[in-house]
Amino acid sequence: MTITTPGATGLRGAVGVAHTRVEGRDKVTGAARYAGEIPFAELAHGWLVLSTVARGRIRSLETAPVLDMPGVLTVLHHGNAPRLNTDYVGMLGTPDPTAAVFQDERVPCAGWPVALVVATTSEEAREAAEALLVTYDEEPHDTALVADHPGAYPGEGHMPAETEKGDLEARLAASAVVMDARYTTPEEQHSMMEPHAATAVWDAGRLEVFDSNQGATWIRGDLAKMFSLDETSVRVRSEHVGGGFGSKGLRAHQVSAVMAATVLQRPVRVVMTRRQMFSLTGHRSPTAQRVRLGADRDGRLRALEHVSLSRTSTVYEFVEPSAGVARVMYDADAHRTANHVVRLDVPSPTWMRAPGEAPGSFAIESALDELAERCGVDPIELRLRNEPETGPVSGLAFSSRNLSACFREGARRFGWADRDPRPGVRRDGRWLLGTGTAAASFGSGAMPSTALATAEADGSFTVRISAADIGTGARTALTLIAADALETAPEGVRVRIGDSDFGPAMIAGGSMGTRSWAWAVTAAAAELRARLAVVPDIPPEGITVRSDTTEAIAALARKERHSFGAQFAEVAVDIATGEIRVRRMLGIFAAGRIVNPLTARNQLLGGMTWGISMALHEEAVRDRNTGRYYAPDLAGYHVATHADVPDIEADWVDDHDPDDPVGIKGVGEIGIVGAAAAIANAVWHATGVRHRNLPIRPDRVLTASVPDPDPDPAPVPGSASVQDPAGATPSGGGVAHA
Ligand code: MOS
Repeated sequence: MTITTPGATGLRGAVGVAHTRVEGRDKVTGAARYAGEIPFAELAHGWLVLSTVARGRIRSLETAPVLDMPGVLTVLHHGNAPRLNTDYVGMLGTPDPTAAVFQDERVPCAGWPVALVVATTSEEAREAAEALLVTYDEEPHDTALVADHPGAYPGEGHMPAETEKGDLEARLAASAVVMDARYTTPEEQHSMMEPHAATAVWDAGRLEVFDSNQGATWIRGDLAKMFSLDETSVRVRSEHVGGGFGSKGLRAHQVSAVMAATVLQRPVRVVMTRRQMFSLTGHRSPTAQRVRLGADRDGRLRALEHVSLSRTSTVYEFVEPSAGVARVMYDADAHRTANHVVRLDVPSPTWMRAPGEAPGSFAIESALDELAERCGVDPIELRLRNEPETGPVSGLAFSSRNLSACFREGARRFGWADRDPRPGVRRDGRWLLGTGTAAASFGSGAMPSTALATAEADGSFTVRISAADIGTGARTALTLIAADALETAPEGVRVRIGDSDFGPAMIAGGSMGTRSWAWAVTAAAAELRARLAVVPDIPPEGITVRSDTTEAIAALARKERHSFGAQFAEVAVDIATGEIRVRRMLGIFAAGRIVNPLTARNQLLGGMTWGISMALHEEAVRDRNTGRYYAPDLAGYHVATHADVPDIEADWVDDHDPDDPVGIKGVGEIGIVGAAAAIANAVWHATGVRHRNLPIRPDRVLTASVPDPDPDPAPVPGSASVQDPAGATPSGGGVAHA
């Protein structure tokens, strides 16, 4: 079904009109095959065996009894697995060697892959894997992120570790109002619906991998380099992907499946369980952040410092760049940001749902709310007074910055003007009510991609691009883009994605997928139309052209390129149980031209729902003594579900990107940014209590104490949990005593 608006249908009118997913029927009827369910003859099944200790060395693997078990074909481990090359530069730079399994006896964390048991059925493989006896020489481990960890150092990741201008201490000392607060966020897990799965098959000298990933050419390139194969002899396909959120890169499942398929010379499938995914597929590091602000009485910032500490593994340096938000959002005479990291005995973290921006915006947008309270200035007005002219750190012009339009429209629709700024004064029975707001931003970039456009002899078109639709609706968006660019209706275009044979293209990541692919598709379509204009007839095999946007993207002027948004939340806090319910949420975004309003809204609502989850529910808890997770599954790890989201709305203001051929910026990740802060700010407005540690669990609400002129230094029993990175407890008033 196509939802149409009058006057917007027909030729060159597809972009901007709501369109259901072109593969929607296939998905809901089960016709769409995911990586773990494509049938193969002679398929063998691999089951990963994970370490039970958090640090040490494998002393022995008793494989003989397991090899005698029913159906078992082989057991791969560091003693017999093929050697891998990890010394290469991949599509995304230096690869994360976390996926290079079975190369030595070292165990860097609990849940590290130590063996793959392959059998003729999945059940036999699992049975044997669980029977495999592995002994370890255990070493002392450290898995706890604490603020001021002695091992912390500046971590670069994909951006500079530190930025600094002006004399911060002097400006803070001279400021009329000063804010200094620490914030923590816990380890979070991607928790996409479809678990990681891959099937590796050697077919006539060519390696084929059917996989669930965020970029087929990326995985193809990394697998080829890792196994020292020619890239043309590797093909990776990922036609349907049930969510990724940053976690679906090169992982143990593809690598171990390729190893086993190579050794056994038959198709091998490796599927992860939800529990295995906790340690095998990356996660968001916990953070310990400190924000210091100095301002004039009217809220104008004079000094800003944001320092964030995250943790990485001993195998790979991944930095959660939480202090990066302030580099774009707020300026001050003295300005310092720093991302620090410490190596601990934990699995490697990775990109997850607005990496950096999500936890960073919780800290800085909470701090600004607190500053607004101290200054007696409305939180929206405070932000508008601090709108920078140019990039606060880069000095570059913004390509467009429509944050104030988002706040104006959001305030109007949310009913912000009627808000009583006083905290803790609204009651609805046993519920305390409050509202909060926060700003959002996320980078909007484009990366080089190639696309193939074919004019078929029957008058239809086929577009091929190695894009990944991880649930975003990218395939449908590209269909609309191609239809307009080819001056035809969406029904006349087939878009094929998820195949590395279509050539290099950007991954589904960084909120850059659809924009990057749309650029390549637009370019290919233009070239095809030019070709068709001079060709009398289309031959039976069609006419195909290929685009490459490398040069066009390199020619873009250097600017601060970002999407922006304003988040609003209303919460109710149960004074008896500490339960927080989000009653309504509104997000207004300036995120470039919206290609498909139906799926774009869905993406933004999904991001905002993550924000609810981040504020109130999500927390992967690790036992310091064993270094292992407690309850690593979706019963123990809570994510927001339908019942947690009663009334949520996302919309946008006009914001065509001036430098993009279609006007796109990207809506991938901005939906979560600022959402947790808006909720935490609403909880303060409801209760008078600042919660600076996420998630804001009922026990934290109940055990928080009212700010007391004569505070009792004794900790409240049970209020400090092992995973609090700063060992901190919430400050401020407990509503139970309010
Ligand atoms: Mo996204 S965290 O860049 O896949």
